[in-house]
Amino acid sequence: MANRLVVQSDLGHHQISRHIYGHFAEHLGGCIYGGIWVGEDSLIPNTRGIRQDVVQALRKIRIPNLRWPGGCFADEYHWQDGIGPRQNRPSTVNAIWGQVTESNHFGTHEFMDLCEQLGCESYICGNVGSGAMSEMREWVEYLTFDGESSMADLRRKNGREQPWKVAFWGVGNENWGCGGKMRPEYYADLYRQHQNFLHNYGENKLFKIAGGAYDVDYKWTDVVMREAAEQMDGLSLHYYTIPGNWKEKGSATQFGEDEWFTTLKKAMQMDELLRKHATIMDKYDPDKRVGLIVDEWGTWHEVEPGTNKHFLYQQNTLRDALAAGLTLNILNNHCERVKMANIAQTVNVLQAMILTETEKMIVTPTYHVFGMYAAHQDATLLPVSVDSAEYVHKDESIPALNVAASRDAAGLIHITLCNPDPNKAVEVKCELRGAKLTRVSAQILTAAEMNAHNTFENPAAVKPTSFDGAKLNGSDVVLHQPSKSIVLLEIAQ
Ligand code: AHR
Repeated sequence: MANRLVVQSDLGHHQISRHIYGHFAEHLGGCIYGGIWVGEDSLIPNTRGIRQDVVQALRKIRIPNLRWPGGCFADEYHWQDGIGPRQNRPSTVNAIWGQVTESNHFGTHEFMDLCEQLGCESYICGNVGSGAMSEMREWVEYLTFDGESSMADLRRKNGREQPWKVAFWGVGNENWGCGGKMRPEYYADLYRQHQNFLHNYGENKLFKIAGGAYDVDYKWTDVVMREAAEQMDGLSLHYYTIPGNWKEKGSATQFGEDEWFTTLKKAMQMDELLRKHATIMDKYDPDKRVGLIVDEWGTWHEVEPGTNKHFLYQQNTLRDALAAGLTLNILNNHCERVKMANIAQTVNVLQAMILTETEKMIVTPTYHVFGMYAAHQDATLLPVSVDSAEYVHKDESIPALNVAASRDAAGLIHITLCNPDPNKAVEVKCELRGAKLTRVSAQILTAAEMNAHNTFENPAAVKPTSFDGAKLNGSDVVLHQPSKSIVLLEIAQ
């Protein structure tokens, strides 16, 4: 079957929020400590304790927001432990992630400094599961109130005169599970009560996000929307792509085509999840005012051999890059409802952008996908119809072509195309209706092996290169897309 795209270049109503390209950093394994925070006295180049190499790398992919401090950690975190002189902060236990000692050296001021260094918005997840409601209320006041109050004065005493701008606020995390084993009815009531005390001080306007469902828990979405839609700006959803199952997830690097196929098929289930959760949201919010916030997603493999199983440190191959490319295309295509997403996690944990080993740092194939797809940030989603061949593996199949297209403020059209088939190239004809094409250029991310990945010894094994397989032909672009690849087309009109 011919692969044909029809892109409506002069249409499009919905903006792809740049926040779909958001990230997530939890106090877990080497994400914060070692990965982001090394302390002011470290020999690793840092700005006020924060690694410069990591900040530079994340700025390059235009990180739009960062979610912190968890995850499950958020519902055990008491923010007042993480303020004031570092030597006076209490040691606590990170009970959920390996029962390691938490120094609290990275706290509110360090996180807000990190966001300022990254030039991104902050997304703070508050503690509903084990925190007092007054704690969450006071945290917002501490962060954002400009006037005189005990909390604002405490912030000043701790070295920050001006309030910060905080964009996004999560009211708990996975409250059906690690966040308190709640029923949706109970959580919905708690959400309503907590959000009531999250004040907008001065110019700061919090985008309030209710804790959402995991995977196919449609009942959670239904009940929380029914009871609290009016009080929220966003409702979260978590979905991880696990090649095996929760007990035996499978190796990040040692796999064959069976695991390759299953992983990518599971990544594509994001489409069905978004459609079904969004349909439930439509029932209570037909105007689509409430955003669906996919604030945890990504691949979850076994940890690297020899590493602490609670630290979730995994390698990242071309397979992870394809899983990210497929997922981001799907998120883009649902941008009418999906207003933000956060891949898990930023450094050294799960589907990381960055891996560090003391002073060394490498970026992963997934990082490069975020770099290529940054072209879609805040662009207008273009309607595309796709006729695609199938990638058939044994008796199952998935489409051999997965696509998103957008038009940016300068009129440039960007199309991201994933070919998940590890054996066959695809020939694609893209018809761009309503555009007079003048130039096409392309980048590709691929490798000879399905499990190709970057290491500290070979950090550039997988990286994007410019690609000459796309040509203009009148009002069409014709593309020869190699097997197991991600292509970014940039088309000028
Ligand atoms: O990202 C790791 C964990 O996965 C998060 O802490 C939790 O929210 C989810 O279950």
